[in-house]
Amino acid sequence: MSDRAIETLLDEERRFPPHPEFASRANATAELYDLEPEEFWAREARERVTWFDDFSTVSEWKLPYARWFLGGTLNVAYNCVDRHVEAGLGNRVAYFWEGEPEGERSSLTYAELQQQVVRMANVLKELGVRKGTKVAIYLGMVVELPIAMLACTRLGAPHTVVFGGFSADSLSDRANDMGCEVLITQDEAWRRGSTVPLKRTADEAMAAAPGIHACLVVRRTGHDVSMQDGRDHWLHDFDVPDDPASCPCEPMDAEDLLFLMYTSGTTAKPKGITHTTGGYLVGAATTHHYAFDLKPTTDVYWCAADIGWITGHSYIVYGPLCNGATSVLYEGTPDFPDKARWWALVERYGVTILYTAPTAIRAHMKWGPEHAAGHDLSSLRLLGSVGEPINPEAWIWYHEQVGGGRCPIVDTWWQTETGMILITPLPGVTTTKPGSATKPFPGIRAAVVNEQGEKVEQGGGYLVLEEPWPAMTRGIHGDDERFRSTYWERFPGVYFAGDGARIDADGDFWLLGRVDDVMNVSGHRISTIEVESALVDHQRVAEAAVCGRADPTTGQAIVAYVTLKGGEDGSLEMLEELRDHVARKIGPIAKPANIVFTPELPKTRSGKIMRRLLRDIAENRPLGDTTTLADPSVVSEIAAQAAAAPAED
Ligand code: WT7
Repeated sequence: MSDRAIETLLDEERRFPPHPEFASRANATAELYDLEPEEFWAREARERVTWFDDFSTVSEWKLPYARWFLGGTLNVAYNCVDRHVEAGLGNRVAYFWEGEPEGERSSLTYAELQQQVVRMANVLKELGVRKGTKVAIYLGMVVELPIAMLACTRLGAPHTVVFGGFSADSLSDRANDMGCEVLITQDEAWRRGSTVPLKRTADEAMAAAPGIHACLVVRRTGHDVSMQDGRDHWLHDFDVPDDPASCPCEPMDAEDLLFLMYTSGTTAKPKGITHTTGGYLVGAATTHHYAFDLKPTTDVYWCAADIGWITGHSYIVYGPLCNGATSVLYEGTPDFPDKARWWALVERYGVTILYTAPTAIRAHMKWGPEHAAGHDLSSLRLLGSVGEPINPEAWIWYHEQVGGGRCPIVDTWWQTETGMILITPLPGVTTTKPGSATKPFPGIRAAVVNEQGEKVEQGGGYLVLEEPWPAMTRGIHGDDERFRSTYWERFPGVYFAGDGARIDADGDFWLLGRVDDVMNVSGHRISTIEVESALVDHQRVAEAAVCGRADPTTGQAIVAYVTLKGGEDGSLEMLEELRDHVARKIGPIAKPANIVFTPELPKTRSGKIMRRLLRDIAENRPLGDTTTLADPSVVSEIAAQAAAAPAED
């Protein structure tokens, strides 16, 4: 790679200062930034979490491994459930659950959640689960999912949740890598009006995972599934007590393993990202409290992610429950049975805080503002974004069409590995800029460095974390070498996130995407997100993905894949108009050489655009592994469009 930092092309000048009314009641204050990390985290650890034994040392860093809250003992289920009931909050709703089939809904108070967690924990004990037994969880978005996670943490049994859209191979690979002995699944899940055969897939996985000796099955659709005698058990068949005294919360060391979350890397083998008990819970709860300004007695909070990803672990289950929040849990997709489903949910439950991903926001943009406009969204007071850089035009759309122009937006940058939000505005404190995640969270030390690892005061480069933080991963399960080489070798002494970023004159961070995606056009290093944002800025564009393809004269040439609003087809005129639009918006150097119009973009199941595949299409290479795609058929469709598209010389 060249010496050059990533160039900055996009000039976003809109500013959104905090509303004084919001600021006067905000959980966060500017003074939080003045505290030294250890001082801040020690204070928050005692404020947000109840410890059985207080910790004696705040943190210790033997690079690259950090430990936090040494000597402290606690239990996550106790913090997320029991202590709220003991404090008299048993009647508060923990989850409003809404099934995908219309009309299916229920609510679960903290007292009911406690009973169900205790019950499931007692069932797991009957199946041989003890402190340290590893449990795989393969469930859809049903209340039994958080209940299963909490039942494991009550017993001190580490879990791995495998997203319900994953295959039998993905499930058995993960269960085998972790050494799981028990699997929790359900008969079937509902998705877009049809059923997903989770138990049948689990059967296939168990055939390849001999370590699993027991399978606990939740009934959801009620359709027949095959049950293997001696191994498979219906949850509802057990007659076990549900009073907390029948299953006390196991005291855990702050550094005991809480869960593994598998994430794909550059090789086929997924990485088992470890998270431990004390630091993770403190990090998730603290960031949830400040970044979302949670007021547990009045807010109805909805994180629309899937619990099968880290976002759901930290911000549907552990952070919100630790803070005593009332959340919405929705089983299905945003466009079933129609494209207004989300907005109907916001209206029904009076959602005040909504947290989602740019990919979902762009989908709603594509579908049109009339769906949101048809519902009363006036309860909303704060919006969040996570998962990818958010294009300024998507930010503005979210702000206006969903937030009615009155809600602060927190664009939160973090990773599976970081466990918690690390870069985010503090609502009520930070002046936001569409497309910028703004500042490192209090107690977090982030920087942008150049190729040599020197700090960049203003301009583009690589995002690094200079000091450890409580919820950071304690490594890749069973692969120390991969942990060191992936995150710690490129820039010695600091954590390299793999993302490009730029820092502006105000010290605000702008995330530029994965560095593997940065393009090099005639020696200019250009980030994909800026060209994409320039395209999305055009009023007829709903979504755009950009990548570089090899070019004999310029090194790389820019190829853009564009989806138009309302499913419109592209035309030659449109193509020229978009190229000119990009040139005007960010400069002629960023003008795409080719534009391919396509009805869909290839995305991973968590909604990220797969630029690697787009590069393969652009360079006419045989397509690599497409198994992680949400909809593999999209690729052949795009390849056909690309083959038909005129190229520019
Ligand atoms: C990668 C981590 C964190 C939970 C969901 C994704 C990208 C995440 C942002 C943001 C720009 C973002 C980064 C990061 N990313 N949030 N607000 N702005 N980029 O977790 O699957 O581990 O992915 O997502 O590239 O490294 P993940």
